[in-house]
This record gives sequence, structure tokens and C-alpha cells, in this order.
Amino acid sequence: MPDATEESQVEPAELAAASRPARVAGEARAALVTGGASGIGLACAERLLAAGWVVGILDRDEAALTRCRERFAGDAAVRFAALDVTDEAAAEVVIADMVTAFGRIDGLINSAGIGADMHVLDTPIELFRKVLDVNVVGTFVVGRAVARVMKEGGGAIVNVASISGLRGSKGRAAYGASKGAVVVLTQVMAVDLAPYRIRVNAVAPGPVATPMVEALHPPEVRRAYRHHVPMRRYARPEEIAAAILFLLDDETSSYVTGEIMAVDGGFRGAGMMLIEEEE
Ligand SMILES: NC(=O)c1ccc[n+]([C@@H]2O[C@H](COP(=O)([O-])OP(=O)(O)OC[C@H]3O[C@@H](n4cnc5c(N)ncnc54)[C@H](O)[C@@H]3O)[C@@H](O)[C@H]2O)c1
Repeated sequence: MPDATEESQVEPAELAAASRPARVAGEARAALVTGGASGIGLACAERLLAAGWVVGILDRDEAALTRCRERFAGDAAVRFAALDVTDEAAAEVVIADMVTAFGRIDGLINSAGIGADMHVLDTPIELFRKVLDVNVVGTFVVGRAVARVMKEGGGAIVNVASISGLRGSKGRAAYGASKGAVVVLTQVMAVDLAPYRIRVNAVAPGPVATPMVEALHPPEVRRAYRHHVPMRRYARPEEIAAAILFLLDDETSSYVTGEIMAVDGGFRGAGMMLIEEEE
């Protein structure tokens, strides 16, 4: 795991992207995205940039950050920082660097997370603690640090929970418990931060085609999801990002806070469904 304290230098891309209007520091709205180097976080970063925001991509994965630097090369609206979200001291440094660079922080997307699918009887305590540490403590560490900045001018935070935090799916002892905690953390933060004009919401995605899922979902899990999701397919990361941006943007959701928005192809609300023929 990288030492985020040593590697928290914020590195601006070299030149303004020709395809986008130049953004002036302090004028464009600024958002930070944890886990921004992959999957749902990366889709959010791309959508924010297209909508005119400046974006800080924070991730602990050096190789993924390098790929992102190449992907966004020449775009001065993006900055990058190595950060393990569980490292409180490093998070303070990175966030302070981003505030200096952007002059403001209007939005935070907490997308950093790890998954686990293991029977409760086999789940080691170390794994259980690790999943809670990244998914819950990491969300709290970064959320609190950014809220301390936002409390001067308001803002919005969107946490990435999961349908596994709303329903009891097999093998989700650690993961489901962690995302259930993210749900209530979101609701509590919404209450505590409302007086500071900070809105806090969460999305609860169903299955999404991302690198995490590539690694985690064997064929029988994919088959099971296709049976239980009324829309009979996985989401694309951009479909989750669209809902996240709705919740992040005051222009679209100024009176929404403490909301847990399922983006799940109908999974949460589904009751009895006809069983599809096996392929
Ligand atoms: N893919 C799905 O089906 C799905 C469904 C529901 C919820 N989610 C949630 O969406 C979020 C994003 O997942 P994804 O599917 O895009 O996965 P992903 O693996 O593609 O992206 C997650 C990113 O988080 C980063 N990360 C992990 N631990 C970190 C840490 N300690 N500090 C900083 N960065 C860290 C990883 O390096 C990676 O870049 C996660 O919170 C996940 O639990 C995913």
C-alpha cells in the first residue's frame, strides 16, 4: 500500500484541454472524487469535467493514477493525488493541497471502496475489519475533512453505498455491513451538516460493470443478478455517475439531503418475478 503522506503532492496536468473552455481557479466549481482512478469514480470525474467542473482525482492505486494522468494529459482542470482514504493525516494534507489549487471545494464523491463475497462462516475477522476500514472509516475520514472546508460556503457530498447495504445478499457479511453503515452515516451527516448548507446523499448501485466486479463476480453470480434485477443487466458506470451528479449539483437537487437513491435496475423494489429460462 503506498505511503500517501509522502505522495500527496498534487500534480496539475500540463496544458488546458483544447476541447473545453479554460477554467479560472476559484471560479469553476470544484469536486474531489475518491476512488476516482477507476470504475464509477472515473466515470464521475469524466462527467464532472464535461459539465465544467474542475476535479481532483484521489486514489491509492498508483498504476491506475498513472493511466488517468495519461488519459487526461494536457487537461489543466484535473489534478491527481495518491491517497489511501483510511489515512487521516494524509487525507488532511491532500485536501488542503486541493483547496489551495482550486480555491474552493463544492463537491465530494466518496467512491473509494473494496468488495468481498464470502460466506459468513468463512469470513476472517481481518477481512471484515479491512472492508469496514476502507468503506466506512475512509468515507468518514474524507467526508469529515471536506465538510470542515465546506462549512464556510456550503457544498454537497455523495457517498457510494450499495444495494448490498439495503438488502441481505449472500456472502455480503463484511461488504453489506459496511455499506449499511455508509447509508446511516450519510443520513447522520445530512442532519449534522444541514445548518452549514452541506447536503449529503448516497447512491446505492446494483451490479455495475467495473474492474471491481470483473474480479469479484463469477458466472453464477452474474446469472443470479440477471434473474433478480428486473432490467436483467448490469449498469454501466456512466449510469451511476449520472445519478451521482444529479445529487451533487445544487442546480438539480438543492432540496435533497439524507436521500439514499437506488440505481439498481429495479432490484430493491422487486417482488415476485417470472423466472427466465436458463441460457
Ligand atoms: N461495481 C459494482 O457493482 C458496485 C455496486 C455497488 C456499489 N459499488 C461501490 O462503488 C464504489 C466504486 O467501485 P467500482 O465498482 O467503481 O470499483 P473499482 O475497483 O473500479 O474502483 C474503486 C477504486 O477505489 C480505489 N480504492 C480502493 N481502496 C481505496 C483506499 N483505501 N483509498 C483510496 N482509494 C481506494 C481503487 O484503487 C479503485 O480505483 C465502491 O465503493 C463500491 O463498493 C460498486
